[in-house]
Amino acid sequence: MISKIEKTLSYIRRSQSEKLSHKFAKKIFISLSGFFASKKLILAYTPDSMAHFKAYPHIYELYERFRKFNKANNGGDINRLISIVLNLEQVLKEDNIKGSIAEVGVFKGNTACVLAYYANENQRKCFLFDTYNGFDNRDLEGIDKNEEERQFNDTNLEEVKSVIGDDLVKTCKFIAGYFPDSIPDYLDKENFAVVSLDCDLYKPTRAGLTWFYPRMKDGAIFLLHDYSSRFWEGSKKAIDEFCYETKQHVILLPDKSGSAFIRIHKLKPKSY
Ligand SMILES: C[S@@+](CC[C@H](N)C(=O)[O-])C[C@H]1O[C@@H](n2cnc3c(N)ncnc32)[C@H](O)[C@@H]1O
Repeated sequence: MISKIEKTLSYIRRSQSEKLSHKFAKKIFISLSGFFASKKLILAYTPDSMAHFKAYPHIYELYERFRKFNKANNGGDINRLISIVLNLEQVLKEDNIKGSIAEVGVFKGNTACVLAYYANENQRKCFLFDTYNGFDNRDLEGIDKNEEERQFNDTNLEEVKSVIGDDLVKTCKFIAGYFPDSIPDYLDKENFAVVSLDCDLYKPTRAGLTWFYPRMKDGAIFLLHDYSSRFWEGSKKAIDEFCYETKQHVILLPDKSGSAFIRIHKLKPKSY
């Protein structure tokens, strides 16, 4: 009897502290712009569309998942989350670009949860590629020869699914293994509207750009992490080579890890 009461009390305490943490995160998120403005420390604003017009109310719940088990890296990277949300709204809703969503480099699922949310909202499929066991030594050569093999191996599929959430996991197809060898044959004819490449190293980034590009139509988007952070030169090299060969151009973001986005353009320009 006593242990039952203890269990119930500990459950109440846990759910209350989760609720509190959620409330607190939302408050911080909303008040960032107000605080910095009033202290004349205008370092960051949240967009008017969110702060004033209360657009995208689901972003607060996504923020919880975006930082779960990864607060040190993602807790303050609001610019990245907002950029992804704004651009997925544009590509999938405003421009209605057809195709599935994919990510190569999932780690704990913190960006995958945002992709899964939009896949679910827009009736798209969401393919999530990772070794789910960190870097593979086949990639640790050339420009990446000094990287450590064991990076990002502190994850597993159960943890990833708990970050993405039961409500969204059903939208996702988890493809475990070494990319690009892990690409299943059934994806050969698939089209993609959104592709997130966040695998840090030259070889998988290059392979991702090469494989997805022919399967992306005009207006589709690449979300590329680590382009200008200066930590991952292999990833930048792969993106620069791709842009040179395909005549695409990056747009740089002021988020923590120097993301860059590419809206694919394949149509011939109109002659005036
Ligand atoms: C920086 S983490 C991804 C972080 C995640 N997108 C986020 O925002 O939280 C990089 C991931 O790329 C994966 N990765 C790197 N090279 C890979 C390869 N060749 N095949 C599959 N996964 C790879 C690693 O296992 C690691 O989980």
